[in-house]
Amino acid sequence: SDVCSSDLKELSVILQTYSVTLRLVLKMIEWNGEHSVGISVIDEKHKEFIDIINKVIVAKQHDNNPEKIEEVLREIIDYAWNHFRDEESYMVEFCYPEYQYHKEEHLDFVHRANSYFKIVTSGNYQILNEILEYLKRWLVNHIQGTDQKYVECFRKNGLK
Ligand code: FEO
Repeated sequence: SDVCSSDLKELSVILQTYSVTLRLVLKMIEWNGEHSVGISVIDEKHKEFIDIINKVIVAKQHDNNPEKIEEVLREIIDYAWNHFRDEESYMVEFCYPEYQYHKEEHLDFVHRANSYFKIVTSGNYQILNEILEYLKRWLVNHIQGTDQKYVECFRKNGLK
């Protein structure tokens, strides 16, 4: 496997962090006003992103078929990649000053999601709940924090 030891170490920290959550049933993300950046073209993408993560959660709870789950996990990575690329094109077009930092956060997500995906496909299926919990938290934090910062710039440039 090409999953590096730092990824595994990090995962064990995440496992400890979420040890309380582990005893609870993994909940889907419910879209609400707090997730909105107030720009509809972006909100639509974020809603779809959340839908895909929810799809994996449903697949895990109701179907529990590893092949199906791997397929939807792959969808998360593909969707994230496309959404990040679109957002970054706006940043470049509008000369957004925090482009570099934002792009690095996107890359970090794709890198981690890929590593976690490999851990699951290598047969370590039990940790899927923790991974999903991590992906959920990352997405919500990113939308409510880092994405919010570009709103003024995007709006000034005519995005609605
Ligand atoms: Fe909407 Fe920066 O991802």
